[in-house]
Amino acid sequence: MRRFFWFLVLLLAAPALAQDLTGHGGPVRAVLPLPDEQHIVSASFDHAVILWDARAGQARAVARWHRGSVNALALLPDGRIASAGEGGRIALWAPGLGAEPAQVLEGHTGQIAALAARGENLASAAWDGSARLWNLADGSAKILEGHRGNVNAVAFRADGTLVSAGFDGTIRLWAADGSNQIIAEAGLPLNALIALPDGGLAAGGVDGILRLIAANGAMREVEAGARPIVALSLDASGARLAVASLGGNVTIWGLEAARLLHTLEGPGLPVWSLAFAPDGRLLWTGGADRQVRRWNALSGRAIGPIAAPAAENLPSGLDAHGAQVFRACSACHALTPDAGPMAGPHLHGIFGRRMGTLPGYAYSERLARGDIIWDAATIGDLFTRGPDVVTPGTKMPVQRVDNADDLAALLRFLEQATR
Ligand code: HEC
Repeated sequence: MRRFFWFLVLLLAAPALAQDLTGHGGPVRAVLPLPDEQHIVSASFDHAVILWDARAGQARAVARWHRGSVNALALLPDGRIASAGEGGRIALWAPGLGAEPAQVLEGHTGQIAALAARGENLASAAWDGSARLWNLADGSAKILEGHRGNVNAVAFRADGTLVSAGFDGTIRLWAADGSNQIIAEAGLPLNALIALPDGGLAAGGVDGILRLIAANGAMREVEAGARPIVALSLDASGARLAVASLGGNVTIWGLEAARLLHTLEGPGLPVWSLAFAPDGRLLWTGGADRQVRRWNALSGRAIGPIAAPAAENLPSGLDAHGAQVFRACSACHALTPDAGPMAGPHLHGIFGRRMGTLPGYAYSERLARGDIIWDAATIGDLFTRGPDVVTPGTKMPVQRVDNADDLAALLRFLEQATR
């Protein structure tokens, strides 16, 4: 556990390069591709949930409501999105996100590590030693206690029953009366659990071994790597399983023969999260580099990050270095008033404007009631100390432009491009 902790600290403390800032201000902890094959939701250690339009490569909405890292996402059958994490609260969002959740489920007293949805039910796994089975109709919950230590994963099996896995290395099956039965034991902590279509389960352990547990309880071990497994995703056909390990490996397995099909090679590793697109042709990953990336799930090849705006789409003839730095901002901010809805307000006319006053944009309360007038000095301060320090409570994700030359160039560019 100690080594794991230091690994985490190193990942989180890695200095930010300005050109890497294309959305989240921290590692991407969960990705949720939506059924329309166009939108994807991501959640991060930076406390934010972002709704992306993958086709446009733009962020459509940012929600910073959680007080801590957001670890898990789930899609509800009615199209709402559930998010949960460090604060122990579960937020249920209308499909477009919005400023405030439509509903909040409270009860866990520890960090929530995972969510799973099925019909009228949502299940959560938490580090308070319990799992909960929520009834979405009335917000009530059944508290499921039995694991010794953190519960790390929950899944609904094909027959609707709930299973959970945790630090104690057990996989438990929960009965309607809240009692549980241990159906498998790995003997070391389990981080991830997924239900297979044949009634079986796949579980990922800290030893890098993938455990395939048949409906009859028989367990087969597959060596997926040497590092702890952090995430699993099953494609919609149920034939392929993607496995992410904390050391950086992402592998895709054919389940029938437990055969390695692809090892992803490319930028953005290690990843914290992964999910097949609904049609199974793409695999989405969220990584320590704070990017949401897509991969060809049939070949294992990298396609690229979700928001990598081409330099040629930015106004030309302006400060070239600054335009390069602004690429980090362009996923969320347009420079002209006519660009259509994006996650952040457009920045046209920003110099001399009081914060939080662009008509028609739904600001956080912090910006709406603030009195900073934006100019080179105040915007410079915003990205030197960071929005979380200058405007605590803002929904703009945590980020800084640490390099003084980059910042000066960004300010020159903004002054020219927002006139
Ligand atoms: C992931 C999306 C995202 C990224 C990336 C991002 N911003 Fe923002 N930004 C926002 C959101 C959302 C707001 C509104 C914040 C609020 O209401 O609290 C905002 C607000 C602002 C404001 C205040 C606007 C006003 O009208 O008061 C400025 C200035 C700004 N951003 C500049 C930048 C710059 C420069 C960058 C790049 C270094 C950047 N932002 C990167 C989402 C983003």
